[in-house]
Amino acid sequence: MIIDLRSDTVTRPTPAMLQAMTQAQVGDDVFGEDPTVNALQDFAAELFGMEAALYCSSGTQTNQIAINVHTRPGDEVICANISHIYLYEGGGVAQNSGVSMRLLEGDRGRITAAQILANINADDAHYPHTTLVSLENTMNKGGGACYSLNELKAIREVCTQKGLKLHCDGARLMNAVVAQGIDPKEFGTIFDTISLCLSKGLGAPVGSVLLGSKDFIYRAHRRRKSLGGGMRQAGFIAAAGLYALQHNVERLTEDHRRAQVIGKALKSCEWVKAIMPIDTNIVIAEMQEGIPSSAAMIALAKAGVKCFTFGNDKIRLVTHLDFDDVQLDQLVAILPSITREKLHAAAAERLPGMY
Ligand SMILES: Cc1ncc(COP(=O)(O)O)c(C=O)c1O
Repeated sequence: MIIDLRSDTVTRPTPAMLQAMTQAQVGDDVFGEDPTVNALQDFAAELFGMEAALYCSSGTQTNQIAINVHTRPGDEVICANISHIYLYEGGGVAQNSGVSMRLLEGDRGRITAAQILANINADDAHYPHTTLVSLENTMNKGGGACYSLNELKAIREVCTQKGLKLHCDGARLMNAVVAQGIDPKEFGTIFDTISLCLSKGLGAPVGSVLLGSKDFIYRAHRRRKSLGGGMRQAGFIAAAGLYALQHNVERLTEDHRRAQVIGKALKSCEWVKAIMPIDTNIVIAEMQEGIPSSAAMIALAKAGVKCFTFGNDKIRLVTHLDFDDVQLDQLVAILPSITREKLHAAAAERLPGMY
């Protein structure tokens, strides 16, 4: 059996989720007439105590729409240098919104209120106009790191004082909710807008919701249309998202527990130099010097375990709904068989489709 830990996006709908999908009441959502899409949007907005929500196709789309609505071409967005919006959205910020980015080095991608304050441009025609701060919580490339509530409040304070909007790329915000025991409404009071993915740890096959004020969502809805993001009987897939929010949040603790076990098992591998602290469901292992991460990816794939490289010196493993304790035991048994010798042999190889 293949153990797939490349991402928490690889899950398939459970029978109960599929049943919710096939039984969904639907209508034309471009006309605002899909009752299931409306129910999902209302449920998500209510969960975070925000005024309104918009169902979109992906987390990239919700982030890109948010950045577009919050900014004007020529503005500057402050974010971490390892943010998804910067690294992994195809340069969409430049293409869709024409903004520049002020990239800050954070602690596992978590930037601080003091850093933000020090990087807001003066009101001088030489500089781009700083209008938006975008935080990622949890921080994917920071090993699923969670922001502390105190730091988020301090960042909110800076944004309010300086008239900046504050967006959250909350692709995995529910993992932070569960790991830190924070009421989602706390996040709703801190951020102007939140992008929440339904297709990651929550296990839906597709979709993200964008949360914000009524006025913001009105403008986001117009932008979604112009990006070709209006969907018709979208209730069939929105039903999966609604089911996920209603049934798959608490169980994220299981993913977090299993991630800890993987971290411990990896730590005792001779080819692993260090494990990043594990806050949620993402495990990042740093390779010993001289062993490329691609070698570990290949050797693990040969042993039936799929993971991703994160640069030349790290691999990432992500736990999720389709990874259970049986697979966990298998993985823990497999890891000691991955020796330095196997990695050196794998270092000479290339898997098709590797990047
Ligand atoms: C932190 C973060 N933000 C945004 C996204 C984008 O989500 P999507 O793949 O739905 O576009 C991802 C996807 O992995 C992510 O990890």
